[in-house]
Amino acid sequence: MAVEDPRPTLSSSQTLESIGALATASERVIDGLRNAVFDEEGIDGPVARTYTISEVSRMINRTPEGIRKAEKAGKLTPPAKRENGRREPYTLAQVNAMRELWDQRPGRAAGDQPIRLSFQNFKGGVGKSTLCCHCAQYFARAGYRVLLIDCDSQASTSMTFGVRPDEELADEATLLPYLQNEAEDIHYAIRPTHWDGLDLIPANLELYSAEYFLAANSGMPGQEDWLSRLSNGIESVEDAYDIIVIDPPPALGMIALSVLRSLDGLIIPTPPAIYDFHSTSSFFSMLVEVMESVGQALGEPVELDFVKVVLSKHTSGRQAHEFVSGLMAEAFGNNLLNAPFIASAEIDNAASLWQTVYDLGGATASRQTYKRCITALDEVFGEVESLVQAVWQNRRAERTLSGVAPEQEPSASAARQPSAQEESIEPS
Ligand SMILES: Nc1ncnc2c1ncn2[C@@H]1O[C@H](COP(=O)(O)OP(=O)(O)OP(=O)(O)O)[C@@H](O)[C@H]1O
Ligand SMILES: [Mg+2]
Repeated sequence: MAVEDPRPTLSSSQTLESIGALATASERVIDGLRNAVFDEEGIDGPVARTYTISEVSRMINRTPEGIRKAEKAGKLTPPAKRENGRREPYTLAQVNAMRELWDQRPGRAAGDQPIRLSFQNFKGGVGKSTLCCHCAQYFARAGYRVLLIDCDSQASTSMTFGVRPDEELADEATLLPYLQNEAEDIHYAIRPTHWDGLDLIPANLELYSAEYFLAANSGMPGQEDWLSRLSNGIESVEDAYDIIVIDPPPALGMIALSVLRSLDGLIIPTPPAIYDFHSTSSFFSMLVEVMESVGQALGEPVELDFVKVVLSKHTSGRQAHEFVSGLMAEAFGNNLLNAPFIASAEIDNAASLWQTVYDLGGATASRQTYKRCITALDEVFGEVESLVQAVWQNRRAERTLSGVAPEQEPSASAARQPSAQEESIEPS
């Protein structure tokens, strides 16, 4: 006779149920937190930050008097007035109108291609998404036209731009249909954000199923070029932009490889800790292998315009950080960005409000911490901006050397298609 096992059994359905309950409970808490943030402000999504006239004056290098004069002359629409008669601050759209008026848009020139860049490392939590969001906003604030593509099914970048990935976002609104060959291009997925000149392609958890699809289909007839599919999709929309920032998934998978295949510039965030340094070293070895095999498949060498390492989450003066960052400087030399992406309470505080530091109009706690953080971020992305400008310059020089006269090139502005934001503006 069989003896009954006295131990309690774990049925798989119970386990699934309890895991499901954890998912539901955490979603409820997060939703409550989110609603609390927005309800407190009386809004239902992120609001674009605005700029005082002295901030605008610094951004476009014009005096406040010059700006007011242009408004009086009817060349610019002045900000609306509040009930107390004081003027509202300026929106980024108004700042960009000034840049148009004074021919100060900093984007690419005639014949230049948009630059695609990503902060990528096969290590979780090193700051990839945080860097991508701040970088996209840095460029948008400077007047560039930016497309931010969220390729990470965790969707933290999408949430930073007010998208509730699993509640309000249909799977068809992400890259998934395109990566599964159900859409011709990626126009359908582009949406405007609360930042003027910054459009987003969002992600949600379902995007992960593209990994299985690509893995299962990559060897099939007609699918040989699966690795270039994302790159081709970007090509179908990039005329409307100067900069494309791509937030990659953390793991080495089919989507991460597709992102690598799409890039002009790669920046690898590495915290100054020995395991992270080692992980970045392995990332470089893997990159060489991937570039070699992609090059063989394409029959031409794969090249990037720049590959840099940025120290991420760095705390100045912390002994271990200084030690490892010294080792990294020795190993990477000029390939290490001069400015570190500092660890800052301001970044954490902004994130807990579903925002970035560039979204904030002022300090969340200490004014000094806020200023230090903004200065440090501006230094990192200022270096990235110089790299982008240098790529355009080098390519222009190459075109001149190879005899392509500028007048033969299509004008960038003439070739540009309207961005999602421009399309969403009703004609008056
Ligand atoms: N410089 C920083 N200072 C303080 N906190 C930071 C900083 N950078 C990132 N964080 C925080 O660290 C956490 C992980 O950052 P983030 O999501 O950007 O990393 P990631 O590399 O994209 O992660 P994943 O691999 O999961 O995609 C977030 O909570 C973020 O707010
Ligand atoms: Mg991320």
